[in-house]
This record gives sequence, structure tokens and C-alpha cells, in this order.
Amino acid sequence: MRIDGEAYRTIWPVEDGAAVAIIDQTRLPHDFAIVHLTTLEETAHAIRAMLVRGAPLIGATAAYGVALAMRADPSDSGLETACATLLDTRPTAVNLRWALERMRDRLAAVPTAFRATAAMGDAAVIADEDVAINHGIGLHGATLIRAAARRKGTDEPVQVLTHCNAGWLATVDWGTALAPVYAAFDQGIPIHVWVDETRPRNQGASLTAWELGRHGVPHTVIADNVGGHLMQHGMVDLCIVGTDRTTATGDVCNKIGTYLKALAAFDNGVPFYVGLPSPTIDWGMSDGVREIPIEQRDGRELTHMTGRTADGRLETVQITPDGSAVANYGFDVTPARLVTGLITERGVCPASREGLLGLFPERR
Ligand code: MRU
Repeated sequence: MRIDGEAYRTIWPVEDGAAVAIIDQTRLPHDFAIVHLTTLEETAHAIRAMLVRGAPLIGATAAYGVALAMRADPSDSGLETACATLLDTRPTAVNLRWALERMRDRLAAVPTAFRATAAMGDAAVIADEDVAINHGIGLHGATLIRAAARRKGTDEPVQVLTHCNAGWLATVDWGTALAPVYAAFDQGIPIHVWVDETRPRNQGASLTAWELGRHGVPHTVIADNVGGHLMQHGMVDLCIVGTDRTTATGDVCNKIGTYLKALAAFDNGVPFYVGLPSPTIDWGMSDGVREIPIEQRDGRELTHMTGRTADGRLETVQITPDGSAVANYGFDVTPARLVTGLITERGVCPASREGLLGLFPERR
């Protein structure tokens, strides 16, 4: 994506592979800051503290983290330690495990003297594949938005509601849920996006709004509980969200609050789509509600908020009374029956085992 005329991805190698550059997403939308990661520990911290976040970007960052680790210790035990350390950073996004297993499987067959170079190459391939996958999701999803525009039959914009941030910041480029939005916008289809603020970390208000604004896509930030009201009044044509893990049966795990949007969409006959890159499918799971590990994060994300003061300083303030207990669940699961369709890089399919196997027959 372009920022001030310059093309960016969210992660890229620098210093001849001695470091990896990322955009520090904890500082957006206030500052656009690039940080260099040079070690396994710095990479693990960047994922855990959410300098990088979003399932596909977590996977790509972990792959680069293995590459940085191989520069320090390319031995078998170094490889195991790197994978274990990175796997421990966040539990829900399955792209993390997917990327680490792929790196470990490939590097185990490479002599230690060549592992650092091979690992950097493999991480770059994962990053490039993510971009290509999301580009495919964008094109397939844009046909749904075009169809919605035709159904409206007016010049009024297609109204899309999205939750959290599943845009280019959550991936290496393009995004998953927002890739169709960007593709449709670039094709000249009139579009407007309702952006759920997405408490507690406000990825919608801070990241989705920022990147849509940078691309020129009309959008409106709404509080998390507004979506149902908008749907009751015919103000949403379709919902498109991302996913951190989708089971082989089409149950979709995504940022907390997604399930409630899907229920409201179902009740109001609003199509509910999920941008799903294939590395986010957990082919070993069939019951999302019971099987997917749900991350619980520091309660401080709920009790405190950070924003910019009028004189430009970042300030964190407490918004809850001292002593109140808090529970901070990061994700929820939307059962497949509430999902209209999964938008993958190979096309759109029903949220079901048969639907997914139709597009990925090699998994039969
Ligand atoms: O906690 P986060 O910010 O990593 O959660 C991100 C999401 O829930 C996204 O919707 C999901 O990862 C899909 S990203 C393309």
C-alpha cells in the first residue's frame, strides 16, 4: 500500500538480512514509526506486545523471527528454541503455527551452515505468498461487492460493515476482509465502510480507519454496539470480517464481538462474509467453539485507554474504578451456520467442510 506516495508492506528485510523492518502498529494512527527487529527475542516481543498483529502478519513475522534466530544459532536446538519461543507468543491465530511448522520442516533438511540464508529466503516466500493470496481474495470479494451494487440499482454506495482490522496492516499487504473493499474501490464501485471501533484495543478506530483514510475509501467509525441498529434500518448491505482461525467445518474465530455482528446480520438477512486465506484454515479442527484456544489478554487493555492530547502527547488514562474485576477475552467463534460465505484466494465457498473441500480438493 502507498503511504505519502511510497509503497510499503508491513514487514520487509533490511541491512542485508541482518534485520527485519516493521511498522509499529501500537503507535498508529498517531505516529508512523518503523522499527528494526534483529533478534528472536525482539521478534517475539513485537508479536506479543502487538507491534505487529493480525493472523497473516503474525505468521510472516514469526517466519522472519526464525530467520533472525538462525543467524545467532542455526543448530537443531536453536531451531527448536526459536519455534517454541515464537509459538508461545499468541495462541489463537493459527497462521503462527502454520508458518513455524513450515519453516521448521524446510530448515531441518538444510545443513546448519546454510540455514540463516535459507530461512531468510523461506520467510520472504511466505510473505510474497501472503500478498498473492490476499490479492486473490480481493478480486473474488470485489465480485460480491459489485453484485451488491447491482442489487441496489442506484449510485448510492455499497455499505460494508467490518470488525477489527483485517486490512493491509493485518497482513503483509492488501488485507483479507479489506482486500475486496480496496479492489472494489479501485474498480470504481461506490463504497462506504462502517468501521467497528473494536474494543478493547480499538483496532478498528485506530488501524482500519487510518488505512481506509490513507487509501481514500469513505468510512465512518462506529461504537461496537451500533451494527445491529444499522442493520435493522437497512444501512448495511454486507458484512466482511477477517479470521484468526477457521475450522475445516467453517466455524470462524475472529476478534471478540464478531459473533454478535453475525447474529445481528443473520436476524436482518444481511450477508455475512469472511476473508479467509488458506493458511488460516485449521484442517485438524471441526468444532470451533469447543476447540479453538481463545486468547485472554492483560486486563489493562480494558481498564485504560491511550490517546493523543491537544498538545500532541500520547496519554494513557484509567476508565474503570479501582478494584473492579475485568475479563479480557480476545476472540470469539462464529458458528458456520451464521456465515454466508468464505472468500478465499481460490474463490467463494459455503462455510462448510464440503464447501472448503470443493476449493481445496487436495485436503480430501
Ligand atoms: O488481536 P489482533 O489485532 O491480532 O486481531 C486481529 C483480528 O482479529 C483480525 O480480524 C484477524 O487476524 C484477521 S487479519 C487479516
